[in-house]
Amino acid sequence: MMALSIVLMLMSGMWACDPEPTSAPPGASAPAEPGKPSVPAQPVTRQTRDTYQFYCAQCHGLKGKGDGINARFLTVPPRDHTKTDYLETRSDAQLFDAIKLGGLAVGRAPCMPAWGHTFNDDTIRSLVRHIRELCHCEAF
Ligand code: HEC
Repeated sequence: MMALSIVLMLMSGMWACDPEPTSAPPGASAPAEPGKPSVPAQPVTRQTRDTYQFYCAQCHGLKGKGDGINARFLTVPPRDHTKTDYLETRSDAQLFDAIKLGGLAVGRAPCMPAWGHTFNDDTIRSLVRHIRELCHCEAF
């Protein structure tokens, strides 16, 4: 009985791609306050675009439209990075945290992985700028 409940706990807590996560891990930063300077810009280079194609496109799609080859296997759809009206509501700091710390850190689904161990902050900043290119938008 005990073992069964542990298994159930693990299944629902750790591997499920819960659409409404309730807790953020420690170290997650608070959403940016209005007027607060956003993440320092980092230019988008060819390497940034290659990084996106290599690491992000299988979920977010080659053109960022959220239609990557892996997308249909996820219980929560990957964000469409071309969706202007949504991305205008997200600050650069929120996008940065989502990429660095994963979906859970910004109150989003854990099936958006954390990339903080894969990329340095400058690479993540340039990915934020690349997403701003894809949506042709800035945060309000
Ligand atoms: C395994 C699939 C997967 C991969 C790979 C992936 N993502 Fe995501 N991503 C997701 C999902 C799913 C969401 C939506 C989470 C939600 O809406 O709750 C998401 C959401 C996001 C968001 C939006 C967070 C928000 O504020 O709503 C950003 C930004 C993002 N991803 C950037 C990236 C970048 C950059 C990469 C590559 C370094 C990447 N993702 C790789 C699945 C993935």
